Amino acid sequence: MHSMTSTLKSSIGKKSIMAGSGLLLSLFLLTHLAGNATSFLGREAFNSYATRLHSLGLLIPVFEAGLLALFIVHVAFGLNLFFENLEARPCRYEIDASAGGRTLASRTMPYTGLLVLVFIVHHLARFHFTEAATISDLVRDNLSLPVTAGYYIFSLLVLTLHISHGFWSMTQTLGLSHPKYDLLLNRLALALGITIGVVFMLIPILAFFRPDFLHPHGSSIQAPLEVGISFIEPDKLVNSALR
Ligand code: HEM
Repeated sequence: MHSMTSTLKSSIGKKSIMAGSGLLLSLFLLTHLAGNATSFLGREAFNSYATRLHSLGLLIPVFEAGLLALFIVHVAFGLNLFFENLEARPCRYEIDASAGGRTLASRTMPYTGLLVLVFIVHHLARFHFTEAATISDLVRDNLSLPVTAGYYIFSLLVLTLHISHGFWSMTQTLGLSHPKYDLLLNRLALALGITIGVVFMLIPILAFFRPDFLHPHGSSIQAPLEVGISFIEPDKLVNSALR
């Protein structure tokens, strides 16, 4: 018990908790991404994914409680490490922050983390604690607005920066570091972060630029035509063609 408390208080213990919780949060992000990617297949596919998800019943609140606990642990330990680092380096402004291989992503981790947290609170308020006829209407109605689409794209860029460095940091904390493979691991972490960010970003981009994305009639240009034809009886159509 005593050794567990001292591990939790040590810097490496805290970093391991950050890595472990970050890994589990990333697994959630990947499943969320896979679910959201069904929107690229059209409105029906996206809505039927949501229906299947909601049919999991009691599993959902259990999963959500676990997710919330992971977020709290990740944010709490992240803030703790941030303040510890501040105390350990009182004259940090005299130090060249870009020295020692520190990148923009690594230096901004606490700030990008807080921006992602603000995004999640806003995201849940808009998408989770709300009522909508269908998930496709919810996403389309929200993300076709310029301000919301812009905010999503900005937040997803920030998320890309945060998780890219997070993945790389995770490999180091979990002891995968090796001079021979470090560059490869670094590039793989970057590629994974960018892929996740870009696929998520495609949704607000499509919702904003393509009026037919998740539209009930598939295409807003085809829609009036389809409706028009469906009201014309076939014999009238033949008559008017012969005239
Ligand atoms: C364009 C990108 C995204 C779209 C379209 C989207 C869409 C959605 C939708 C529709 C829901 C509600 C699901 C439901 O209750 O049926 C949801 C929930 C959620 N989203 Fe997203 N999401 C996006 C990006 C993200 C990102 C980047 C994160 C995390 C950083 C995130 C975290 C969450 C969380 C934590 C929930 C609640 C999950 C639950 O209650 O089980 N989302 N999202």
